[in-house]
Amino acid sequence: MSKPFPNKPVLKNNFAPVMVECDAPDLIVHGELPANLAGTLYRNGPNPMFPPLGNHHHWFLGEGMIHAINLEDGKASYRNRWVRTEQYNAQREAGERLVGTAFGEPRKPGAEKLPNNVANTNVVSHAGKLWALDEGSSPVMMDMKTLETEGANNFGGKYQGPMTAHPKFDPKTGEMMFFGYMADGPASPDISYQVVDAQGNLTRSEMFKAPYASMVHDFITTDEHVIFPIFPATIDMDRIMKGGPMIAWDPSQSTWIGIMGRNDGVDSIRWFEGDPCYVYHPMNAYTTHEGGKTKVVADVMKYSRVPLFPDVDGNKVMDLGAELGQLVRWTFDLDGNTNDYTETELNDIGGEFPRFDERFVGHEYRHGYYATMTRPEAEGAPFDTFVHVDLKTGNTKTYEPGEGCFVHEPVFVPRTEKAEEGDGYLVSLVYDGSKNLSDLVVLDTDDISQGPIARAELPTRVPFGFHGNWADAV
Ligand SMILES: [Fe+2]
Repeated sequence: MSKPFPNKPVLKNNFAPVMVECDAPDLIVHGELPANLAGTLYRNGPNPMFPPLGNHHHWFLGEGMIHAINLEDGKASYRNRWVRTEQYNAQREAGERLVGTAFGEPRKPGAEKLPNNVANTNVVSHAGKLWALDEGSSPVMMDMKTLETEGANNFGGKYQGPMTAHPKFDPKTGEMMFFGYMADGPASPDISYQVVDAQGNLTRSEMFKAPYASMVHDFITTDEHVIFPIFPATIDMDRIMKGGPMIAWDPSQSTWIGIMGRNDGVDSIRWFEGDPCYVYHPMNAYTTHEGGKTKVVADVMKYSRVPLFPDVDGNKVMDLGAELGQLVRWTFDLDGNTNDYTETELNDIGGEFPRFDERFVGHEYRHGYYATMTRPEAEGAPFDTFVHVDLKTGNTKTYEPGEGCFVHEPVFVPRTEKAEEGDGYLVSLVYDGSKNLSDLVVLDTDDISQGPIARAELPTRVPFGFHGNWADAV
């Protein structure tokens, strides 16, 4: 039996978990779903089944639930399932929480050896499977149609370490690239780098040391380079042993950006140094050779410090929404003699969850999409507006679904396989507080300010979570 959840911002309103798994075969659709929009939007986010063990709860540590909205022949259907990790299954069998949702919290006696895996951050499709990902554990494989959990993937025993929730996909080769931090144990500065082929086989795995141990949420790839950004959300074993926070903002450290040739080894990583800042999510990056000089250009959503974590003294957690990320462009001169890099602001509308037409991963691109906040922050309700930025003209278009409505990360789907970059749809979810339900929305990227061309009513709300992806029907 689960019990009432405590009154905490990330456990109430639309951050609260939903306690139902269901199948809805034919949703009410307003407007017309495009006939050529055939596939599934998968989304992942924290959805703890049991309340926290103690007084603290971190949003990042609730067990994941997958929501799948399938669109085909102008019809929409919905299915949701918890990711059945060993942690989830053991707790469900016990009927109570065994693994805490606060960083560093002791587990219930008897659960010390339970593999830790919340699988709550992102869900990608690769090699015919869904991969439910957090960043501290192995990927969890699921069936793309039934959402049945098949278990953790250790790549045939070749790699059993952590996997970022933000792998990157080479649009030409179909390869998946990923890293894992703390790859040599808790608080280690070791980072692993892996390549997985289009069939799901691990073809490369290497390890290197970052300048310090930290929370490394995402990375970037270009056609020619891999970029490992290290920001001072540090993980310091001395501090932890003294009772300090596990992950903390430490501005005494620099930002370090490691750049490696895609075909080179980790020994060749070149480190660039910048002011302390934090980036959860880059948008895209690419390599240029203008004037015979090799440069890497990376567009990122930059914060002045890490949101959602305290300083090294355990104080001053910066809440979600207290500061919006700013879309900036960093340029790294690989033929230069210094380890500096330049920064220019791309847009004055801050936000989070940057996405783009991912057929252009690692290439020059023009169109970006993200979520922003235009109204005063309501408790338990973060982003309220979708943004489309044209990086060539600097123009932006926005769509705000209205009072009491809040948005999730927008996902781009091309109109057709051969459509020009940015020609297609944004698919995402809107939570409507007046109904306490969520809708799937489809926006036309010709002009997102016109509002949805179609909207499907889901049978439940989808809690504010993290990331999702579109998979074409096969
Ligand atoms: Fe993320």
